Amino acid sequence: MPHVSPAGLAGDFPPFAQRHLISIADLKQHEILDLLDRSERMIEISRQERKSLPTLSGKTQINLFFEPSTRTQSSFEIAGKRLGALVVNMSVKTSSVSKGETLIDTAATLNAMRPDVLIVRHSAAGAVELLAQKVGCSVVNAGDGAHEHPTQALLDALTIRNHKGRLAGLTVAICGDIANSRVARSNLLLLGALNVRTRVIAPKTLLPPGIENLATEVFSDMEEGLKGADVVMMLRLQHERANGKMIPSVREYYRFYGLDEQKLAHAKPDAIVMHPGPMNRGVEIDPSIADSERSVITDQVEMGVAVRMAVLDALLPPRNEP
Ligand code: CP
Repeated sequence: MPHVSPAGLAGDFPPFAQRHLISIADLKQHEILDLLDRSERMIEISRQERKSLPTLSGKTQINLFFEPSTRTQSSFEIAGKRLGALVVNMSVKTSSVSKGETLIDTAATLNAMRPDVLIVRHSAAGAVELLAQKVGCSVVNAGDGAHEHPTQALLDALTIRNHKGRLAGLTVAICGDIANSRVARSNLLLLGALNVRTRVIAPKTLLPPGIENLATEVFSDMEEGLKGADVVMMLRLQHERANGKMIPSVREYYRFYGLDEQKLAHAKPDAIVMHPGPMNRGVEIDPSIADSERSVITDQVEMGVAVRMAVLDALLPPRNEP
């Protein structure tokens, strides 16, 4: 029996096999494409004056953020509200975690309130998956340590597809602190699943162990790595995940790995520039590039709301009433 939501999103029921979204590795290629197609519909809805589609009416969404966030938390909140859910925001500062409550006790407490979905960000890799095993509702990973940030990879793919008209056959160069980046990891998995050629560009000290086992090309020279790239994705240095000093000097890092006009000239003339944020201008990216017409950074933010609406809609389909 096909499921048709009020907005006319059609598909086989259930439209999405997953109960949680923890890792891109859990998604089949057709599920990734389905989420991107649903997101297109959500862009249309978000650009209308009314901006609402009540498919989550009666559902409860709790955003539980143990790490700071501007984009992810606010876009999940807007996404849930646009879909008609009751949305509750919790952070480590406002919860009893600050009084010593464990992650598992926090999960059990929230679970007793019968939410339909928990959106969780945590500094420890694997914490969101652990929490998902302890609750009776859907769980979405909003970033766990250096492990994964699946909705970021989905919104990045949507942004690329919208600007380039396709994904397959493109070359995406991801540059910066690959070792500590959950964004890089999720993007490598997702772009690989969609037959996009990827390159990582970083000093050897900022490459994760085992990078040679991933299906990506590795460069230490930024100009070499950018040659012929369709997309340049810049990453910040994630000092919060590093023990001690990450780089000898910011000035030197910027000289070799900061994206400026001269380095960008090695990519294709129509290459787009991306950054998941937060951005450190003058460290990994020159302000003139961040603010240029080639930058699609604010488009990524808009796509973030659409993707999160699509993920919530797919995870929590309206129940078939008898
Ligand atoms: N891209 C991203 O995760 O940004 P926030 O940390 O602001 O959510």
